[in-house]
Amino acid sequence: MSFLSQTGDTNSLEQFSQAKPLQIDCLLDNAIEAIDDGKDVIMGLSKSQKSLPPRYFYDSRGSQLFEQICQLPEYYPTRTEAEILKQYAPEIAQLTGACELIELGSGSSTKTRLLLDAYQGLNYPLEYCPIDVSGSMLKESAYQLLADYPRLHIHGLVGTYDRALTNLRPSVLPRKMVLFLGSTIGNFNPKECDRFLTQIVTALDEGDYFLLGIDLQKPKQILEAAYNDSQGVTAAFNLNILQHLNWRFQGNFEPTLFTHQAFYNSTQAQIEMHLACQKAHSVILDAPDFRVNFEPEETILTEISRKFDLHQMQDYLLAHQLKTLQVWTDSQRWFGVLLSQKQQHKQIINPN
Ligand code: AVJ
Repeated sequence: MSFLSQTGDTNSLEQFSQAKPLQIDCLLDNAIEAIDDGKDVIMGLSKSQKSLPPRYFYDSRGSQLFEQICQLPEYYPTRTEAEILKQYAPEIAQLTGACELIELGSGSSTKTRLLLDAYQGLNYPLEYCPIDVSGSMLKESAYQLLADYPRLHIHGLVGTYDRALTNLRPSVLPRKMVLFLGSTIGNFNPKECDRFLTQIVTALDEGDYFLLGIDLQKPKQILEAAYNDSQGVTAAFNLNILQHLNWRFQGNFEPTLFTHQAFYNSTQAQIEMHLACQKAHSVILDAPDFRVNFEPEETILTEISRKFDLHQMQDYLLAHQLKTLQVWTDSQRWFGVLLSQKQQHKQIINPN
């Protein structure tokens, strides 16, 4: 057994030999895949509007900062979604019956507990596959879950969604449900979203479920406050991506030369988070051997967070072979949770 590196995440295969109730596999350690060699970072920083993949937020420190964001008074999505799940998890469990829960971006698994409670309440077997890029976060959450749910089995995967969805272990239960909560789907632009849903549907068998949480469109002031909190936690979270790149790719980003910016782009219905450069300078990433110049006022787009329309999302899912069975929202209609099911590809048309 190997241990997580001090900086938080790991490239080493981590296996817990006692097969039950916990196993964690690390999918990052594959030199063949263009996963962790920084190609995606070089690509993003080479564009005229520089950008970074948001998953680089979630090293060990970034995952902790995100947990803090979820507690902020201005950041409504987490608590609103939790409120919906708290109320409707028993209904979700009734609709799906026993199934394996596979969660993309599981983080602290706090909201997952609401589902586990409901599945446990119906005496279903508890099989959980958390997937996260932060190995430290995944391991810690898994230990805490096992302490609280004695009948739970966990098979975690440390890795990106791409790698995880193509490396799922064979199901142990006849049905599975992929959970994608917190409106993380909002990080994908429409093209990335298509690709992602295609991967989801490929990973599902007919009749399997997809539970999706989405942040809904609402007045700009509410949205902008959620990404510009008064305590500066979101700013620290945004800037931490540079520290992560520094350790992962032996870079020399100077975070004090950048400032946090977040605003709502109403044309695209998305929050955009940037790091704005304060003065001309260049940055070197040693590990992929890459140098990049920054001009004053130039920004790095670190995240988009799209805000959705519930009906459009149902149509969109259906176009991807996912039929929505039920939709739940909070009383203010700020957040939506959709339960969908993979259909046969061809709709059966009644010949009469
Ligand atoms: C986890 C991607 C859903 O977009 O609201 C929170 C991340 N960024 N504050 C979001 C985030 C800044 C969050 N998602």
